[in-house]
Amino acid sequence: MSRVLVTCGAGGVGKTTLSAALALQLAEQGHRVIVLTIDPARRLADALGITLDNTAQRVPTRNGELRALMLDAKGTFDDLVARHAPSPEVRDRILANHYYRFVSERLPGVHEYMAMERLLALHAAGDADVIVLDTPPTRHALDFLAAPDRMAGLMDEGVMRWLVLPATTSGWRMLEMGSDVLAGVLKRLLGQGTIEDIADFFAGFQSLWSGFRERSLAVRALLRAPETTFVLVTAPAPGARAEALAFLDVLRKDGMPFAGFLVNRCAEPPPAVWPLPSPIPDAARWEAVSAAVAPALDRQRGRVEAQELAIADLVAHAPADARVWRVPESPREVHDLDGLRELGATLEASGAVAALGGVS
Ligand SMILES: Nc1ncnc2c1ncn2[C@@H]1O[C@H](COP(=O)(O)OP(=O)(O)OP(=O)(O)O)[C@@H](O)[C@H]1O
Ligand SMILES: [Mg+2]
Repeated sequence: MSRVLVTCGAGGVGKTTLSAALALQLAEQGHRVIVLTIDPARRLADALGITLDNTAQRVPTRNGELRALMLDAKGTFDDLVARHAPSPEVRDRILANHYYRFVSERLPGVHEYMAMERLLALHAAGDADVIVLDTPPTRHALDFLAAPDRMAGLMDEGVMRWLVLPATTSGWRMLEMGSDVLAGVLKRLLGQGTIEDIADFFAGFQSLWSGFRERSLAVRALLRAPETTFVLVTAPAPGARAEALAFLDVLRKDGMPFAGFLVNRCAEPPPAVWPLPSPIPDAARWEAVSAAVAPALDRQRGRVEAQELAIADLVAHAPADARVWRVPESPREVHDLDGLRELGATLEASGAVAALGGVS
């Protein structure tokens, strides 16, 4: 059975980068790993060899096995329709429908829900030891946690019957003529599309609802299963606190298993003792050197102090068993395999890989 590691957090804190670094590190320890990335920076995607074609690409590793893919929400939806439609006619009818195009590309929450469908499929395939799931920035990540519930709700028989009831064009027309207000509300609820399109979409989609509902319940269960772990990526800056705590709150309320914080881009304390230069400079020169270096060391010490206060504050609000792993700022941008490897080594040194990978 695959373990599932979900990395969440605010925008730009390093979720995608750390997901990839963790995945690579775990793979090179000899495990079979899949990383599902969301919108990776172009150069990182290139380094991993992934393209937006919805297939997992093998990443060249020194050991183990790493496959990487980036989420293609529309492609995932199309695949689901193709796989579960009862006939080629129904499949083609849905895929060609204008309203379907809106639903699959722009309906709020669909992107997040498709990430969940993809996760479920990867988990069901059962050919990975660990699946690392990157997520969109916090505001959307809340959607992302709610997506399976919302989808299950939408798929409820009751709602379904209500929507299918007027599933003939004339039925919808009657609704439209019967009440402009109701038609207006429906349109806003359902997004753009002509009444004919919407009616036709629901008629075609009827046979697929129960499958969507079942899978959304399965995802809901998987997110809370013992093999799943959430980790929150955050920045050491005091400003990151509110977002991290808001996220933590949602995780706790929803009963998601939370492992701890990956505090990314941490400063490291300056060394307490400096090796004496050799030859030892004369007193006057020595003073000049320390006068030049001291303010920088002070600044660095100050930065670390502020960072540690921010971390302590975070920990004070977290569950007692939450862990903290400090990830240092890399001296250069991380966009190739060597950069990921270096970051992976620091994740290993911090104990994060062993704790989060959870594979023996
Ligand atoms: N430890 C680090 N040291 C140096 N640079 C880093 C580190 N972690 C991340 N970065 C850089 O920060 C930038 C943002 O990282 P990343 O794209 O992983 O963030 P994200 O949380 O996935 O963003 P988004 O919310 O937009 O998806 C990238 O340029 C990445 O290379
Ligand atoms: Mg990202």
